[in-house]
Formats: sequence, C-alpha cells, structure tokens
Amino acid sequence: MAMKGGPAESRTRSTVSICIVVGMCVFFYILGAWQKSGFGKGDSIALEITKRTDCTILPISYDTHHSKKGSSGDLVSPVKKFKPCPDRFTDYTPCQDQNRAMKFPRENMNYRERHCPLQKEKLHCLVPPPKGYVAPFPWPKSRDYVPFANCPYKSLTVEKAIQNWVQYEGNVFRFPGGGTQFPQGADKYIDQLAAVIPIANGTVRTALDTGCGVASWGAYLLKRNVLAMPFAPRDSHEAQVQFALERGVPAVIGVLGTIKLPYPSRAFDMAHCSRCLIPWGLNDGLYMMEVDRVLRPGGYWVLSGPPINWKVNYKGWQRTKKDLEAEQNKIEEIAELLCWEKVSEKGETAIWRKRVNTESCPSRHEESTVQMCKSTNADDVWYKTMKACVTPLPDVENPSEVAGGAIKPFPSRLNAIPPRIANGLIPGVSSQAYEKDNKMWKKHVKAYSNVNKYLLTGRYRNIMDMNAGFGGFAAAIESPKSWVMNVVPTIGKIATLGSVYGRGLIGIYHDWCEAFSTYPRTYDLIHASGLFTLYKNKCSLEDILLEMDRILRPEGAVIMRDDVDILTKVDKFARGMRWNTRLVDHEDGPLVREKVLYAVKQYWVGGNQTAST
Ligand SMILES: *[C@@H]1O[C@H](CO)[C@@H](O)[C@H](O)[C@H]1NC(C)=O
Ligand SMILES: *[C@@H]1O[C@H](CO)[C@@H](O)[C@H](O)[C@H]1NC(C)=O
Repeated sequence: MAMKGGPAESRTRSTVSICIVVGMCVFFYILGAWQKSGFGKGDSIALEITKRTDCTILPISYDTHHSKKGSSGDLVSPVKKFKPCPDRFTDYTPCQDQNRAMKFPRENMNYRERHCPLQKEKLHCLVPPPKGYVAPFPWPKSRDYVPFANCPYKSLTVEKAIQNWVQYEGNVFRFPGGGTQFPQGADKYIDQLAAVIPIANGTVRTALDTGCGVASWGAYLLKRNVLAMPFAPRDSHEAQVQFALERGVPAVIGVLGTIKLPYPSRAFDMAHCSRCLIPWGLNDGLYMMEVDRVLRPGGYWVLSGPPINWKVNYKGWQRTKKDLEAEQNKIEEIAELLCWEKVSEKGETAIWRKRVNTESCPSRHEESTVQMCKSTNADDVWYKTMKACVTPLPDVENPSEVAGGAIKPFPSRLNAIPPRIANGLIPGVSSQAYEKDNKMWKKHVKAYSNVNKYLLTGRYRNIMDMNAGFGGFAAAIESPKSWVMNVVPTIGKIATLGSVYGRGLIGIYHDWCEAFSTYPRTYDLIHASGLFTLYKNKCSLEDILLEMDRILRPEGAVIMRDDVDILTKVDKFARGMRWNTRLVDHEDGPLVREKVLYAVKQYWVGGNQTAST
C-alpha cells in the first residue's frame, strides 16, 4: 500500500506560470450545475451558482521541468475522443456480466462471483447513461424515491408487488421502508435489534449486510450513525445493489460463494442476514466461518427469517418442519463450534455474539473438531478460496482483554489510533506516522474545499476513495450527509483496510486493473490520490480512467492527486472522456511536484443524444 503523501516533493527553481483563465468560469459553473436533478430543485441551485461564481483566478503554475514533453504542449495537443458504447451497455458491470457468468458453475454461486473480461475483451468506450437519466434526489429524499428513468426495471414492481418493498408511482420508484423482511417497517425492526445490541451508544458502528435486497436495513441504520456495507449478487433483472446506490446507501455487488469476502478479518461490529437465502448450514459451516473471520471480537451476528421461528412460520415459507428444524440445528451447532454466544431469540430474529477472545471460549482448548486456519495473513483475501476453518484471533494476556485491542465507541474512534497500529500489528507503521497522515489529510481536504465548494455540502453523497490508505480523506470529510467507500488496492504494500474499519469507516479491497463491483453511475465523487503512480506499469491508465468514468454519475466530480507528469497524461484522457478538468497546484505552492486535477463529468445520455461539446 503506497503511503499517502505520494510522489516526490522535489523542488526546482525555474518555474513557468501559465495562468489558465479561459475555462475557469465554465469549470465553476459545471461544478455547480445540477439542472438535471430529479427533484426539480436543480434549476435554483444552478442559478445560485451562476450568481455566486466569482471566477477568482487561482493561477495554475506549471513547472516545465516537471513534464518531459512540456506541459503547455500537452495542453493544446489533440485529445483522443472516446465514443459512447452501444446503448445495451447502459448497465454494464464488466466483472458480473450475465453472459460470462453463465459459463461458470452454478454450484456454490460460483457463477455470481467476479469473473472479469480478459484484456482483449475490455471495452474502450464510454458507458452511456439511459435516456432521460436525471441526477438522483438529494438525501434523505433519495432514501425513499428513485427516478424511474435511472433504473427502468418495471418487472421489479410486478414481481415484488406483494412483498411491498418497492412501488412504482408515476416517474419514480418509492421505497416504503418495509417489505417482507420488515413488515412493520425497518425502523421498528432496528428498534428490536437495538434492545439487544448496543447500537445507541456508538459501540456498534460498522455492519455487514449479507444479501441486502435494496438495502433498506442499511438505509435506516444511517440515522443511528451505523454504516452498513450491504452486498448482493448481480441479478438478471432485479438490480438491488443499483437501487441501494441510487438511494444514496452504500452497497456493492457481491456474494458468498467460493472465494473470500473482500474485507479484512476482525472488521465489522455486526453482521446481518434477513431472509438472505444464504445456506448457512451447508459446507461444514463455511459461510458462518467467513462471517466469523470478518466479525470483530465481541461483534454480533443477526439472523432473521428462515429457519428462525420455523415452528410458527413453516407453512408460509413452504418448507417442511423437519427440513427447517434440521437447518436451525445445524446453524446452532456451527455457532457453538465458533464459540458464539446466543444472546437472544425472539420471534423471527436470533442474535449471536462472537467472544472477545479465545480465552473466554473454554471448549476451544480441547476441541479437536475445530479446524483452525493456517494462513499467516488473514487479510490476504483477494481471489482466495474460502476454506472451512476458523481464523485464529490475536493472543491476549488476560481473559477480559479484547483480542486485537478494544475499540473506542464512535465518533471517538474516528481519529483515535486504530488498535492495529497502536499494537504494532501493521509492520512499518507507527502511531506517529498515522497521526501525521491524519493531519495531512485535514489540510488537503481544506484545500480541496476551497476549489470545490460543494465538497462538504452534501451535494456529493456517494463518495469513493480509490486509494484510501488509512481512511484519512474519509475521516476528514466525515458527515451524515455523505459516506465514503474506502478502497484499498490489493497491490499496495501495506494492508491498511483493517485500520480503516478500526476508525468506524467502511471499505473494500480491490485491484484497479479490473472493474469495481458496482453498477455504472453509482458515485457522485471519486478521489484518487497516488493511484496512477501506484498502478504505473501495472495496467493501462486508459482502462483505469474508463472504469472511473463508468462508475461516476453525470455531473459527478473527480479529485486526482498525483505527480504532475502523470496528471498531465490523465488530463488528456479525461478531456477525451467528456470531463471538464482543471489542474491546480499543491497547497504548499507551485514547486511541489504533486498537483491536484479536478474534473467534472459532463451530462450526456445514450440513445441519439450527444454531448454538448
Ligand atoms: C454501550 O452499551 C452497552 C450495552 O448497554 C454496554 O455494555 C457498553 O459498556 C456501553 N458502552 C459505552 C462506551 O458506553
Ligand atoms: C433516436 O432514438 C429514438 C428512440 O431510441 C428513435 O426512435 C429515433 O429514430 C432515433 N433518431 C435518430 C435520428 O437516430
């Protein structure tokens, strides 16, 4: 993992300043423009921006020595214009493509796992938004309403009509916040959980939602300051994860299949399955063992729906008593093996708690039936096969100590030193280095918000940090108005994702040489610091940028921070992708090689419309 702070800060003396005046006002206008917004408020916002735009000129200085070709030359040389892909690629998810999926075995959901296109199969065009696409509603209205044009799947409302989790009203989908899972509403359901699980006092902050549906659970947990990481497979027609993201709720495409989940061990404070259809009892408890791996010591596992309370519900579920009873018995047996303590079973909901350490699990000592995992690095999970074994916890010195270190409640944990760092579990990373990184990100974010005035206003809700490090960027902009998907590249040298979770933030491992597990147009803002340097000579810059364009919403923004040479190249591609860009100096002045490239994606849609440029 490349440490943030990035490219060399070498200084040279002869600096040529090129002030780019033309385009500045345009840039600010585009930044603020939000005319296509689904709620009709856009026009007034755009108007306000036009008024407020003062066109203050921040001089952009190029050090000609920074660039081999000469920056000014690059600025005027012709850019490669990318064409829109055919309309059928509107909802293209390269690594979860239906046609490719069908070539893989259905067994253990293997076909629903990531299967990415080969290099020669990659598209070199821009994924078009559907005709009529509008910017999603602002939060919290987006929680309940999604413009139909953005996810035009009517089948959903027909199919799920009885289940009452989505309704079609005119040109919007409405999510009543209930459905099969929560007949009395998600809020009531969470109240029930909160009676057992310490949600109110900040002890539980991060939650994994396995098989999330349209992520109503995650959507309603947000007001209790809990960040959920919901996942669900890409379905042929349901697009559950797309709906979740349209609603402004974090989610990724994912499935419990044959490979490990892309999360570090001991990450989540809670895991949840409500009618998620995952066969917990199968394969010697493989899936429960994977949940155990990612659960923090003392974390909770919630299972609601089948088979819990089968005695009452077996008829409605159209399954036999015997079958359901056997399933529940098997789950109880595995939970015992994992040494989870059952803390509650009420109605259709059962809750277990993972012990805080191995000491407090007396049976574990003699137990020969428990197979412990041998791997030396429990966080090395990318494309690694899941095995039916228990991931060992760090040793403790006394029975009351939390394995791996206790975590402060949220929000104090946001800026506290994560236990993994405090305990020296990340080689080469000291508490001082972490604190320095944290301070640096506060400074960078301040500079960002001077250029992009909307950064902290809630204009950008779904935010991605492509190279998140310790989550310093996310911590610096933390607010209930937005959330950040902290992506930690698998090719990085330091596995920092565990400490991102330690701070009460969420994130995921990913290799940017491949497509991210999400639908097109799902992020409002993408931040990429040191990313292009990290992937230099690993895979093509063009592929990474096209993937960024795929997942970025029209009128969404990008902030890229890197060495000036690489940003000059990026800038050329960006303009060919219909992004408006602006290169700005480091806040410490023009002599620093590290610069910041701001970009805004133009609004355009598929069909026969073309971009205005
Ligand atoms: C939060 O609540 C739980 C359960 O009531 C309690 O055990 C825990 O000590 C509380 N934590 C804090 C920090 O108040
Ligand atoms: C534009 O698209 C519409 C519907 O997609 C189609 O009916 C129409 O013929 C197209 N027009 C042109 C000029 O391609």
